[in-house]
Amino acid sequence: MKKRLICHAAELVTCKGKGPKHGKDMAKIGLIKDGALLIEGERIADVGTTAELLQRVDLAKCEVLDASGKAVLPGFVDSHTHFLFGGYRAEEFSWRLKGDTYLSIMERGGGIHATVSATRAATEEELMESGLERLKTMLEFGVTTVEGKSGYGLDKETELRMLRAMKKLEPMQPVEIAATFLGPHSVPAEYKGREREFLDEMLEQVMPVVRAEELADFADIFTEKGVFGIEDSEYYLNRAKEMGFGLKIHADEMVTLGGAELAARVGAVSADHLLKASDAGILELAKSGVVSTLLPATAFCLGEPYARGRQMIDAGCAVALASDLNPGSCFTNSIPLLIALACIYMKLSVEEAVTALTINGAAAIGRADRIGSLEIGKQADVLILKYPSIQYLPYHTGMNLVEKVIKKGEIVLER
Ligand code: NIG
Ligand code: FE
Repeated sequence: MKKRLICHAAELVTCKGKGPKHGKDMAKIGLIKDGALLIEGERIADVGTTAELLQRVDLAKCEVLDASGKAVLPGFVDSHTHFLFGGYRAEEFSWRLKGDTYLSIMERGGGIHATVSATRAATEEELMESGLERLKTMLEFGVTTVEGKSGYGLDKETELRMLRAMKKLEPMQPVEIAATFLGPHSVPAEYKGREREFLDEMLEQVMPVVRAEELADFADIFTEKGVFGIEDSEYYLNRAKEMGFGLKIHADEMVTLGGAELAARVGAVSADHLLKASDAGILELAKSGVVSTLLPATAFCLGEPYARGRQMIDAGCAVALASDLNPGSCFTNSIPLLIALACIYMKLSVEEAVTALTINGAAAIGRADRIGSLEIGKQADVLILKYPSIQYLPYHTGMNLVEKVIKKGEIVLER
């Protein structure tokens, strides 16, 4: 089996953990100065200081990678994206600059509905082609695992086409994909006032096929004013859970509806957005262990106040950070931008931001036992930065510091 030793890392950040890190633990990232990492095949075989590993490892049998002057950390896990879609909505961005709001554009039949029309019109090949391009830029930013949602079909055929396209994309390139079914992303015009019927159609006609073909691990819903209310969302999520789906919720994004509390009640794996989560909702998230997934680039692009990340961590929540890449509210998957926003405006420390993008991101997609940290037995998904410390991530603001990306033990990107 091929062995690779990364040694003399100025700092090696392990983010050690097998589950989400909560509250104060988020700052404990397991930093090793002059660190080293041994990879055997696809897995991590040893971690420690360079001096320790040089005693234990037979150098003659290893490929050696000198990481002097560089920081080494786990691959980023972008645990909330809508990276597969047809068409673009640049005009909406300029309408919002002139004072329009996200929800009013959606009420007029734009927003998600515009992307639904474009996605229904796109072939599987077309979706895969643009999806592949986006996966390429993710990898450049150090994303080794991404979550991707359906939700621009709102009908059986297109929802399945999106999920099948994601499944086919995974073996074509290095980024690992966790798929989420988001059929209830919006209410199709013909179902207005008959939301339950729409949900039943998703639950009875579409989701059994998703299960049978193993197309998605999670079921998600847009719980929002004018979209799906709390009662309908609870009904859908509980039935999805019975079918074996893990649960995610777009919760309390524009309006305080009680989405955070709902996530705790139904035992969701994550509650996402949370810009308007109530104090009680934050406490429920902390108590229940639901991962609070924050998407600062969305707040930035919409000009909305940021989710209360500092308060959530202080309350004991496990916070994850993700891009929310999508054609409407947030058309960016810039990891350095979202780290800077999280540190500057949500008041996360750099250590907390890195935890949020690695082990907590992995926990938000139920994969913390396998990825998200550098420790013995885990998959060797590793980043080498151009600079000696993770402190450079927000400091060299908005710049891509990734020099090398290793996925399952192989160097898949060098910049
Ligand atoms: O997470 N809020 C709902 N869903 C997406 C936006 C989707 C879109 O506008 O196309 C989000 O922000
Ligand atoms: Fe989203």
